[in-house]
Parts: sequence; C-alpha cells; structure tokens
Amino acid sequence: MAERILIVGSNGQIGTELLGALRNQFGNDQVVASDLRFSQSIDGPHFVLDAMNAQAVYELVKNQGITQIYLLAAMLSATAEKFPQKGWSLNMDTLFTCLELAREGHIKKLYWPSSIAVFGPTTPRENTPQATVTEPSTIYGISKFAGERWCEWYHLKHGVDVRSLRYPGLISYSSPPGGGTTDYAVDIFHKAKAEGRYTSFLSAQTALPMMYMPDAIRATLELMEAPAEKIKQRGSYNVGALSFTPAELSLAIQKHIPSFEIDYAPDFRQQIADSWPKSIDDSAARTDWGWKPDFNLEAMVSDMFAHI
Ligand code: NAD
Ligand code: SER
Repeated sequence: MAERILIVGSNGQIGTELLGALRNQFGNDQVVASDLRFSQSIDGPHFVLDAMNAQAVYELVKNQGITQIYLLAAMLSATAEKFPQKGWSLNMDTLFTCLELAREGHIKKLYWPSSIAVFGPTTPRENTPQATVTEPSTIYGISKFAGERWCEWYHLKHGVDVRSLRYPGLISYSSPPGGGTTDYAVDIFHKAKAEGRYTSFLSAQTALPMMYMPDAIRATLELMEAPAEKIKQRGSYNVGALSFTPAELSLAIQKHIPSFEIDYAPDFRQQIADSWPKSIDDSAARTDWGWKPDFNLEAMVSDMFAHI
C-alpha cells in the first residue's frame, strides 16, 4: 500500500520545509498538510485541524487513508514558560492521540520531535551524551522528556513504530521560528539585513547546539526511512551539527555585512539557555542509522544570506 502522510502543524518553522521535502519524496497528493489556520501558500491536500480535538484527528486519518503522521504541533520553550498548563496540554495530549492511533493500528509510523530541552542544569553541558542526567527545568523540557518516555513505552508494550530526534535550535529562512529560546539565531539574520544591527536576548558567550534546516529535514527523512531494526533509541536521538555563541555568529555575519553590530540585553530566555547543553554527542545516531550533518557555521551563514 502506498504511504499517505499527515503533517500536523504544517504551517510552522519545520512544517513549512518538511511538507515540500515529503512531497518531493512521496508525491504531492500523498502528503496531507494540516494546521490551525488555512495557508494560502499550500497547494495539494490541506486541512484546518485542531490537533487538540482527538476525534477530528481520528476522522481525518480515517477519511484520508493516512498511514504515517508527523506531529509538529507544539508550544515551544519560551512560550510554554508563559502558558505552562496550556503548553503541557498541547504537547502531551496531541502526542497521546497519535500514539493511540498507532496502537490501534490506524497508522503504521509516527514521527514526533523532541528537543535538547530534555536536558537541564544538572546535565553535563559539553558533548552531552545520548543517555545522561535528564532533569529539565522548563515546562517544554518536562513535556518533551515525558513524551520520550511515553514513546518508548508505546514501542516496548505495543510495538508502535514511533521515531524521534532531539533537535537542537533550528535555523531557517522560509518561516519564522515559533517562540523558542534559540530564535535569536534566526532573527539576527533578518535584522542584520534590514537594519545592520541586532540586540540579542542571549548573552555574548551563550553557546548552544544548533542545526541548519536542510540538515534537520534530511535527518528526519533518514530516520523515518531507516529499517526498524536499526532504530535502537525509541525515546529520541541526540542529533548534532553546530555549536556557537551569539558573539561567534555575529563574527560570521560580519564576513557578509562588515558594518553589522550586535549588543546584548539578556531576558528570561537566558536562564533557559543556561540550563541546556552547549554541544551534543550524537554518536548513537551516527552509528545506528548513519547520521552526518552537511552544514558548518560558514556554509549555513552563506546560505542564509543567499536566501533571505
Ligand atoms: P512552530 O511553532 O513554528 O510550528 C508549530 C505549528 O503547529 C504552528 O504552525 C501552529 O499553528 C501549529 N499548531 C499549534 N497548535 C496546534 C493545534 N492545536 N492543532 C494544529 N496545529 C497546531 O514549531 P516548529 O519549530 O515547527 O516545531 C515543530 C516541532 O519541533 C515541535 O514539537 C517543537 O517542539 C520541535 N522542535 C523545534 C525546534 C526548533 O528549533 N524549531 C527545536 C527542537 C524541537
Ligand atoms: N528551538 C527550541 C526552543 O528554543 C528547542 O527545542 O524552544
């Protein structure tokens, strides 16, 4: 049977790019987009869907003959600190709906992204291992960590084929980021080009793991295509690519815009960033299913300026 794929949360930073990549791979009509709002820019099958409405998700899956779901609807770290109960409900309830759809055999495969936010202040911050202390201090991180445990449980108890990556901060030009702590690394490009300067909400020396969106999309597709027996982590995989500070990113930007200036006004997101890893050990992903990033800092910055 041909695969028919549903993206839940297709209008966001990742969904915007994943939709095109999946449609290239599976064909336009085989990939169904859905989000809270209708997007004029999407061709092909596209539905308004509130992922909190489990019945509506069930009906869309059944009516559209869906075999795989990519669940991207979520509340990210900075926004979830402002709306903790809403963030918890959105991040957990939507995952349960999809895990149950898989357990009941309505879909064959589920992709659900986790995050470096599963780590916390007690985690080793350099080259953070796949398995280590996970005591997240944000609601977002708590929801991602709990989600990982549920994914593994559904796999072990019910054989659900659920797969996941702990994305670092993602950098892209097509769509704005949706309320995360790593958003500065996208905003900075737009402000650099428009105004020649940027005020960073993270301090100069705050190192965080990051990844350029083409690498993130390829990692996602490669994980989902890998034979099931190669997937040893049914919670979620560490995936790494870049690690830099706002000061290092601004130096890389100055190679394209020499007059670019940055200053720093850390806000509540600094505390979140300080609880996250600086760099990631992704050797499990490299060994199990062959993960390898393409973009280093210079290549990512050049490509961003070529597109924005
Ligand atoms: P985003 O905020 O840009 O997009 C999320 C999309 O979900 C939005 O289009 C929003 O309208 C939609 N949505 C929200 N509530 C919904 C609901 N009830 N029903 C249907 N749609 C709803 O987020 P993103 O950056 O694309 O992230 C997608 C996933 O990847 C999330 O799980 C996020 O935690 C994870 N992630 C993202 C990053 C990153 O840097 N972008 C890093 C780590 C993990
Ligand atoms: N980029 C995300 C955030 O900052 C990490 O999961 O929330």
